[in-house]
Order: sequence, then C-alpha cells, then structure tokens
Amino acid sequence: MKVFIIGIAGGIGRRVAVQLAEAGDEPIGLVRRPEQAEAIALGGIQTVRGDLVAMSVDELAATMRGCDAIVFSAGAGGKESNEATTLVDGDGPGKLSTAAERAGVRRFVLVSVFPEAWRERRMDESFEHYMVEKKKAETQLVLTDLDWLIVRPSALTNEPGTGRVDLGLAKFHTEIARDDVAATIVELLRTPALNRLILELTSGGTAIGEEVHALAIRLGGDG
Ligand SMILES: NC(=O)c1ccc[n+]([C@@H]2O[C@H](COP(=O)([O-])OP(=O)(O)OC[C@H]3O[C@@H](n4cnc5c(N)ncnc54)[C@H](OP(=O)(O)O)[C@@H]3O)[C@@H](O)[C@H]2O)c1
Repeated sequence: MKVFIIGIAGGIGRRVAVQLAEAGDEPIGLVRRPEQAEAIALGGIQTVRGDLVAMSVDELAATMRGCDAIVFSAGAGGKESNEATTLVDGDGPGKLSTAAERAGVRRFVLVSVFPEAWRERRMDESFEHYMVEKKKAETQLVLTDLDWLIVRPSALTNEPGTGRVDLGLAKFHTEIARDDVAATIVELLRTPALNRLILELTSGGTAIGEEVHALAIRLGGDG
C-alpha cells in the first residue's frame, strides 16, 4: 500500500511512516525543509519537498497520483499564526481532498481533534480559533464523495505506546501516546470497511488490532 502523508515530519506522521515502512508498505510525504528529508530518508522513507499552502491543487494531485491512501496529520500546531492555522488545519484537508479527487485517490484519513478537548479549561483565543478550524476541516471532508475517515485523538503525549486503545464513536477526552495513534491509523488504513465515519481515539485497554476489528464488525459495511 502506497500512502501519501501530509505532516510526515511531524509527531504522528513520522510514526505512521515508520510503521508502514517496517510493514513493507510504501509511505511518501511532503516535507518543507531539506534537513527533514535527509533525516526521514535515513529510515528508507521517500519524501517530496513541498508546502501544502504554497502548492496548487494540481501540484498536490500530481504528487499523490498512484497512491492508495492519504493521511493528513499536518497542523500549524499553534507555533505560527492564526492565519497559518486557518490555511493548514482549516483549509488544508479540503484543498487536499480536491487534489485527491483529481488524482483518483479515494481513501483519506484525517487526524482531527476531540471537539470537547479542554472545554473544562479557559483556553486562549488562538486555541479557540484552532478548534473552529478543525471543525471546518472535518465538515469539508465529510461533504466529499471520498472514502474518508476522521480520527479524533485525545491530548497527545510522547510516552511509549502501549499497543492498547479505546476507539469508537464517542469517547471521554483523556490522553494518548502518539505511537498508539500512529499504530491505530495504520490498522485503520488496512480496514476499508471502516469508512465515512468520525471516530474518537484515546488510551484504553484493548489491543489496537482487536479494537479496530471489533469496530469494523459493529460499524463496517461500506468496505
Ligand atoms: N497536540 C495535541 O494534543 C493534539 C490533540 C489532538 C489532535 N492533534 C492534531 O494532531 C495532528 C498531528 O499532531 P502532531 O503532534 O503530529 O503535530 P506536529 O508534530 O506539529 O506535526 C505537524 C506537521 O505538519 C507539518 N506542516 C505544517 N504546515 C505545513 C504545510 N504548510 N505544508 C506541509 N506540512 C506542514 C509540519 O511541518 P514542519 O515540520 O515543517 O513544521 C509538521 O511536520 C495535528 O493536526 C494536531 O492538530 C493534536
């Protein structure tokens, strides 16, 4: 399976790429800086220099042509401006879905966020903007005819993965290791029956393969 990853140099994207490559699949992704390409190439993973915002839809389509699936795990990460959040987190998935339609890549996995994440806290204006943009992105993807799947992970940590999660339609927002999010995405890529669904993902007690398989039996049907 050839998978085009936007955000391949990031916390989740990098882990998805490594796990796919280890399993004999073919990850490929966009990187913005040459040193990122060099680091990722050390793991035998192919990258293309590019920027989601600067590239046209046709350029993105040409880059992903021939892939079997897309994983969108990019984000401005609050490190840049509200405008960057709008362009990457908000408009990025919609733009990429148009490119996917042109390139004939139907499977599209979007990493989003729990809508009630940190609702119990008073967050700043940039966080509220981020939440609005994430919701906008989900809506744009849901309105396409693609075989989309939206995964909303809870707060991300860099703790080692446990290989166990809690995945389903509505979950409590807690925390989850990026390792476990990546492993779940890889499993979901191998499970086409889970299609056109919004799934929430947090740490839990069930082995990832088992959890995805059980969910496919309960909710699958399109694949
Ligand atoms: N942090 C949390 O607790 C949390 C919780 C739920 C969901 N999420 C979401 O999970 C997703 C992945 O998180 P993460 O930890 O993997 O994020 P991350 O480490 O910040 O990675 C994001 C990646 O997106 C890339 N990117 C940003 N703008 C780009 C552009 N214009 N063109 C191409 N690539 C671009 C970045 O590239 P550079 O390396 O060049 O900057 C980076 O590699 C994000 O969408 C985030 O919103 C986060």
